[in-house]
Amino acid sequence: MKNFDFRNPTHILFGKGRIADLKDQVPADAKVLILYGGGSAERTGVLAQVRAALKSRTIVEFGGIEPNPRYATALKAVEVIANNDITFLLAVGGGSVIDATKFIAAATLYDGDAWDILTSRGSVVKRAMPFGTVLTLPATGSEMNSGSVITNPEKGAKLPFMSAVTYPVFSILDPELTYTLPPRQIANGVADAFVHVIEQYLTYPSAARVQDGFAETLLRTLIELGPKALETPNDYDIRANLMWTATLALNGLIGAGVPQDWASHMIGHEITALNDTDHARTLAVVLPALMNDQRGPKREKLLQYAANVWEIRDGSDDARIDAVIAATREFFEKMGIKTRLGDYDIAAPEIDRIVAALQDHDMTALGEHSAIAPDDARRILETAL
Ligand code: NZQ
Ligand code: ZN
Repeated sequence: MKNFDFRNPTHILFGKGRIADLKDQVPADAKVLILYGGGSAERTGVLAQVRAALKSRTIVEFGGIEPNPRYATALKAVEVIANNDITFLLAVGGGSVIDATKFIAAATLYDGDAWDILTSRGSVVKRAMPFGTVLTLPATGSEMNSGSVITNPEKGAKLPFMSAVTYPVFSILDPELTYTLPPRQIANGVADAFVHVIEQYLTYPSAARVQDGFAETLLRTLIELGPKALETPNDYDIRANLMWTATLALNGLIGAGVPQDWASHMIGHEITALNDTDHARTLAVVLPALMNDQRGPKREKLLQYAANVWEIRDGSDDARIDAVIAATREFFEKMGIKTRLGDYDIAAPEIDRIVAALQDHDMTALGEHSAIAPDDARRILETAL
């Protein structure tokens, strides 16, 4: 096992009716900016619950944060904060609203050009405004991690950053808030959480028994409950398990002390930057192709994944690896997520653009061995057509 530091300061308030607890979590003298997305939080009544819980606080609201949140929109929120003496931020939404809030929290207290935050991947961030979240979409883990991904269409860029100061102070996880999600977003959430686990698990053995065991349990839970969440949308226990699984998939726990990959994510981000394909769908396209391409370096973990997650134990090494890649692809398809680039209107000329963007964004040494260069990404994408 590798050396590691593990610290996760986010207070989780999990369960039915927990939005009412906001009154105790937000500082009594805070002037709060509530941030939300394109209107689902208003339609579903979540915002009404939030306003009721914070009725004794001074509140300002900022709506309109897009899926794949935009840099320019985030900067508008920074202005609202300055003009209204805001002291606390509350994100109400999915990963996009929470990611935007993290960037806004950091940009508000950053003296230089806010774009530096992204080009430095967060290393310039020393301070951030405190913020909490009310999660409405289990997927990204953003509710309990310090990462954020911001899109800037003018620059053709979708870039991640992280910082020790951009963990939420608290996150409210009420599984009942997920009942209003359309099937497409449930499917996206399951696939995204699944690939988060894979990025931290499917590398090479590092004698990390607990991390591997946790990761395998999270994967099996998603495989079992993902399709059931689509079939029986109002089953509380299924939603509760999915919500907690998605949080645990990317809150640092299973990634401590182990090698990590993240190549599928970095290649996937360039696909979203190109044509706004949903984040999770880019992963479902890239991952099976990457597993096949990287079957040499990933051999031992592919065989462990086949046996412990999918019960695939018979046949030659290559036959078991073929079978587990097929099973992974079928799982995404069963969730209603297509797994070929062509399904998202991407053909050979777009691959050139994706590869050029990886180069431009210094994504030139991806994967657990830093061995996936843009030409390797091209080979992977060509098999995903
Ligand atoms: O915008 P509104 O109207 O709120 O609608 C949203 C949005 O259209 C809707 N929605 C959310 N909760 C709902 C709901 N509709 C009905 N009922 C509810 N309860 O769902 C749509 C998608 O929301 P979004 O927040 O974009 O989805 P998700 O949570 O999947 O977040 C995706 C973003 O997170 C980034 C992705 O790149 C992408 O930009 N990621 C963030 C990560 C992190 N911070 O650690 C890691 C991930 O790998 C990922 O990159
Ligand atoms: Zn993801």
